[in-house]
Amino acid sequence: MLGATGNTGSAVVDALRRFPDLSVRTATRQPAPPTAHDHRRFDWADRATWGEALDGVDRMYLVAPVGDAEPMAVVAPFLEQAGAAGVRRVVALSSSAVAFGEPGLGQVASAVREVFEEWEVLRPSWFMQNFTGAHPVAESIRATGGFVTATGTGRLPFIDGRDIGRVAAHLLAAREPQCAEHVLTGPEALTYDDAAAIMSEVTGRSVRHRSVEPERFTDFLVASGYDPDFAAVLAALDALVRDGTQSEVTDAVERLTRTPPRSFAAYLRALVAV
Ligand SMILES: NC(=O)c1ccc[n+]([C@@H]2O[C@H](COP(=O)([O-])OP(=O)(O)OC[C@H]3O[C@@H](n4cnc5c(N)ncnc54)[C@H](OP(=O)(O)O)[C@@H]3O)[C@@H](O)[C@H]2O)c1
Repeated sequence: MLGATGNTGSAVVDALRRFPDLSVRTATRQPAPPTAHDHRRFDWADRATWGEALDGVDRMYLVAPVGDAEPMAVVAPFLEQAGAAGVRRVVALSSSAVAFGEPGLGQVASAVREVFEEWEVLRPSWFMQNFTGAHPVAESIRATGGFVTATGTGRLPFIDGRDIGRVAAHLLAAREPQCAEHVLTGPEALTYDDAAAIMSEVTGRSVRHRSVEPERFTDFLVASGYDPDFAAVLAALDALVRDGTQSEVTDAVERLTRTPPRSFAAYLRALVAV
């Protein structure tokens, strides 16, 4: 389990409790996170940590280095080492916005498909956690009570990371692999205006969304303190949403796990109740 302390990885760890026959090993930079599982320190940037993390593993949840524009420099040798170490099945996290072979996560997905006989590629939509966790949208809501995008009236079927975790656990545990990509979404496609209205209603605090013109958005982000390269990535993603290319709702979560994905309102209600 790579990325086991993150949005999706922690959800995979939780969901694997339903499969008690599998023993779980987590591997992140933290020397010892508070989990009952076997844990090894693993750092993409430190190859000396790779062997111990892979020792005895036959199925792996893969979160490529996050925020790395060229992850293949480390992912390619890692996958080779993983295959040689006996890893048989890889469930890799990608994105609905990235197809096989495209730069970054698309190249990772292609390499996973090439190196392993048993592979699955998860292509989730945008995470509901972006509104509540460590993400520019959530940070802006916490700091200002609102957020800015360049998405216009484009829609997204936001998905709860826990639903991604349930799918990944299912695919890791399944007797037979599907060797397929899985476009994972929540149950409904929302505009960011819709999402802000739902958040306002559930939390009882007004959350505002403002959409600006795409050409102004990168400048806006840079003026807000974001690194220009990261700002350009965020702006490109918003352009995809604005163009309506990311709005399709799929039935993959329910088909694979026999439980429907959570709505945004239900996701927020569960957080508010904690
Ligand atoms: N947010 C979205 O809407 C969205 C939508 C589709 C796809 N995605 C993709 O999802 C991925 C992020 O997944 P996530 O949200 O589950 O992860 P996340 O919450 O960002 O957590 C990252 C995980 O990676 C580990 N990590 C970070 N640096 C590491 C390093 N150098 N070596 C080893 N482990 C390291 C972290 O653990 P430690 O800190 O303990 O090392 C943590 O467990 C990205 O690739 C993103 O493109 C995101």
